[in-house]
Amino acid sequence: MKKRTFKFLTSSIVIFFAGMLMAAFVSPTENMAKQKEWDIPAKYKEMENPYAGDKSLEKVGEMLYMKNCRLCHGNKGEGNGPKAKLMKLEIIPFSDAKFQAHNDGEIYYMAIIGKDEMPNFEKIISDEEDRWAVINYVRTLKIE
Ligand code: HEC
Repeated sequence: MKKRTFKFLTSSIVIFFAGMLMAAFVSPTENMAKQKEWDIPAKYKEMENPYAGDKSLEKVGEMLYMKNCRLCHGNKGEGNGPKAKLMKLEIIPFSDAKFQAHNDGEIYYMAIIGKDEMPNFEKIISDEEDRWAVINYVRTLKIE
């Protein structure tokens, strides 16, 4: 093998491994705090809220929220409940404009089906009316 070729090969190998090493250190920390985008199926995006504006569900919604969601999402949905610190992913406040821009069906998917550290609540909140009560309640958690 020519000396030049050998030099070229060794430096390529060194660069390759240095790159691998950097990728290994950089990407997990990048993914850690940032959420991955929610991939919401069309079925949920098109879902209508049959209880939209139903004030009679407010108390049930609040009760279910305090029981099931408060520990992570916080009393007012700020994303600062006592368990939030244990999460690898950031919990965005429900007052966030980007969050509020979601329609009710999309919030249904995020709140009831979940992903990653956001638990699935299909069994725990099995009643359709209860599920929408929680979603309506989450909508009211806009911090001024
Ligand atoms: C064990 C902690 C935990 C509990 C309990 C919990 N959540 Fe979450 N929730 C999370 C985390 C972490 C995320 C961010 C997940 C992601 O982006 O992958 C999240 C995300 C969400 C989102 C999407 C907004 C966002 O931050 O991306 C909604 C809506 C939501 N949760 C609603 C609820 C509701 C409603 C309840 C109760 C029925 C609940 N959550 C209970 C941890 C929790």
